[in-house]
Amino acid sequence: MAALRNDLLLRALLCEPVERTPIWIMRQAGRYLPEYREVRAQAGDFMSLCRNPELACEVTMQPLRRYRLDAAILFSDILTVPDAMGLGLYFETGEGPKFERPLGRAGDIRKLRRPDVETELGYVFEAVRTIRRELDGAVPLIGFAGSPWTVATYMVEGGSSREFKTIKGMAAADPDVLSLLLDTVAATTLDYLNAQVAAGAQALMIFDTWGAALEPKDYRRFSLASMQKIVDGLVREADGRRVPVILFTKGAGPLLADMVSTGCDALGVDWTTDLEVARRYVNDRVALQGNLDPATLRESPEVIRQGVADVLKSYGTGPGHVFNLGHGITPDIDPDRVSVLVEAVHELSPKYHGS
Ligand code: CP3
Repeated sequence: MAALRNDLLLRALLCEPVERTPIWIMRQAGRYLPEYREVRAQAGDFMSLCRNPELACEVTMQPLRRYRLDAAILFSDILTVPDAMGLGLYFETGEGPKFERPLGRAGDIRKLRRPDVETELGYVFEAVRTIRRELDGAVPLIGFAGSPWTVATYMVEGGSSREFKTIKGMAAADPDVLSLLLDTVAATTLDYLNAQVAAGAQALMIFDTWGAALEPKDYRRFSLASMQKIVDGLVREADGRRVPVILFTKGAGPLLADMVSTGCDALGVDWTTDLEVARRYVNDRVALQGNLDPATLRESPEVIRQGVADVLKSYGTGPGHVFNLGHGITPDIDPDRVSVLVEAVHELSPKYHGS
């Protein structure tokens, strides 16, 4: 395997010195890019795109051709895991994810099994290998999965949810059944992430989009504890290099302090916490990734540049910062605005590093 020509991301995630702040963008491959919409139309639908390693590789590479990004992220979805567990994932246009067989109450959960990931999710690992070949050492490839709690919200509610009525009811009335579900999802996710590393993923991110919908004690009991089980079992080295692990609980705020003790390498931070404050929560024990508000990308180039300057200043000097948005880029963004963002990070960040 070719040595990495740009390893800024891996160094920053391990709090090692860098010449400038690396940048990648959550959902960097997606509908805001016309070339993505074209390939998705060619694939037919989103899941067919995910299941086709050549096309998944193509859309992974698209943002790297346009922008000077420091990482690629596997094109897939967090809900491939429950799909592999037999729930039948599908996407209704404009409606988000749905399951043909969502989990009802306890009975379904007791029957749930940890699937063989090589059989059920082999298409993902094939995509990872294809992307690594195509990247040829240009930048590292990030693999990912959802947190067990976040994935379980979709499994139990049957799709996207605002109030999480059914799963919160389960947390209150049947916590042992919920824990059983989270354990099965965590075990499957662990197999899934380790197989991504075996296939060539060089850093890992766990997306916990809905952890902060729980009150802190339940966050620790259900979301953080299940992420901990994954971190404990992960293979942390490949090709003689550490494979850094990033945890991202959207809206974590002060819970960032609790997340450090999982043994992760880095934490994603959304825009509701200043990086300066986040840095104090974590005491510089892990790297931080974030946190420009994605809404800033709707503004003028001057406002975007100022937003970048503010985020860099908020983190301050020293290693351990990876620039990103505080959540995924939305489909309405003008691709030219993303160039302004990426170029501003290249231009404005060197003064926060070295002499
Ligand atoms: O970041 C990347 O470029 C890699 C690909 C990626 C996707 N989903 C592709 C995708 C990643 C990392 C995800 C993670 C994901 N998926 C999360 C966690 C991160 C977050 O955004 O909070 C969640 C909660 C999901 C579940 C999911 N997938 C939802 C709710 C939706 C529908 C909403 C939407 O944006 O349409 C998806 C679909 C999805 N996943 C799309 C993409 C590019 C859009 C599908 C399309 O092309 O129509």
